[in-house]
Amino acid sequence: MKLLVTGGTGYIGSHTCVALMDQGYSLIILDNFSNSKSSVLENLRKLNDNFIFYNIDVTDKKAVEQVFSKHEIDGVIHFAGYKSVEESVVEPLKYYLNNVVSTMILVKVCKKYNVNKFVFSSSATVYGENKVPFKEEMELLPTTNPYGETKAMSERILMDVAKADPNFSVSILRYFNPVGAHESGLIGENTKGIPNNIMPYISKVAKGELDKLKIYGNDYPTPDGTGVRDYIHVMDLAEGHVAAYKHLSKGVHIYNLGTGKGTSVLELVQAFEKANGMKVPYEIVERRPGDIAVCYADVSKAEKELGWKAKRNLIDMCRDAWRFESSI
Ligand code: WQD
Repeated sequence: MKLLVTGGTGYIGSHTCVALMDQGYSLIILDNFSNSKSSVLENLRKLNDNFIFYNIDVTDKKAVEQVFSKHEIDGVIHFAGYKSVEESVVEPLKYYLNNVVSTMILVKVCKKYNVNKFVFSSSATVYGENKVPFKEEMELLPTTNPYGETKAMSERILMDVAKADPNFSVSILRYFNPVGAHESGLIGENTKGIPNNIMPYISKVAKGELDKLKIYGNDYPTPDGTGVRDYIHVMDLAEGHVAAYKHLSKGVHIYNLGTGKGTSVLELVQAFEKANGMKVPYEIVERRPGDIAVCYADVSKAEKELGWKAKRNLIDMCRDAWRFESSI
């Protein structure tokens, strides 16, 4: 029996593949390299080669069906999807077509081949401007961007399918802010172009590729005025997927994958400087449109039901992020 992982050469996907193979799972990885490099495959193989790979776009139903017809698949973890908030505002249709259609096609093929275990990569963005700490049972509010809407729509599709088919088991995982890299330094967040997210940006400033970090606003209602987020080590996140897959049961189960702690931008910069013994020059600039002031998770449900809790701290995240960035 094999586990199918879509988007398995991406940032979260590749780290989850390592965590799954470390637990003895044999994988089938699908990816079309739209937001990752093929070199990830050789680095994955250095860590564990218990996988086969197909260069497939998950919206290509025929190609996906061929994989299901060739292999006995126990379950699916679906990462494949575009994830830039800013890009989704400029190109909403590209996001709806890719992110929502890929989920529907994958579920349709799963049902045709009687594959009833499905883990979905969602995002804290679906909470919108709810009251923190975000809890899984909260009413979702409209997000500020099409990317967030594609995650919310995909969640609703999965809930409706599970309601109609009691055999279908779904685990929806809402990520907070994944950062860091595998301790080997072989895989990490390898963004194409100028990074939108803060940790790869800080790493490129530390490397001298970018001259300074622009901190988007210090007039938020937070202790030091800068935005607060729940940063979680990507390997903790990966291990959360393994726990969710192992605990899959009938119906739909939603879990926050975060640390439950809020960290400001300035605190993150200080942690990076402390972890790596270097200065990170920065400048306070205007707020970034669409940003919320504070976002962090209530993580009690994952701990209670999955027996999972993040164990790596901010220094681990900054040290591992830098080790990867300084190696590419
Ligand atoms: C973090 C903090 C910024 C860059 C996004 C998506 C979310 C998820 C994670 C997919 C904020 C500040 C950032 C910079 C800065 N992705 N910042 N200067 O926006 O919390 O979440 O990525 O699932 O869906 O929305 O992450 O890293 O962009 O920002 O000051 O150059 O850092 O204002 O407070 P974000 P981020």
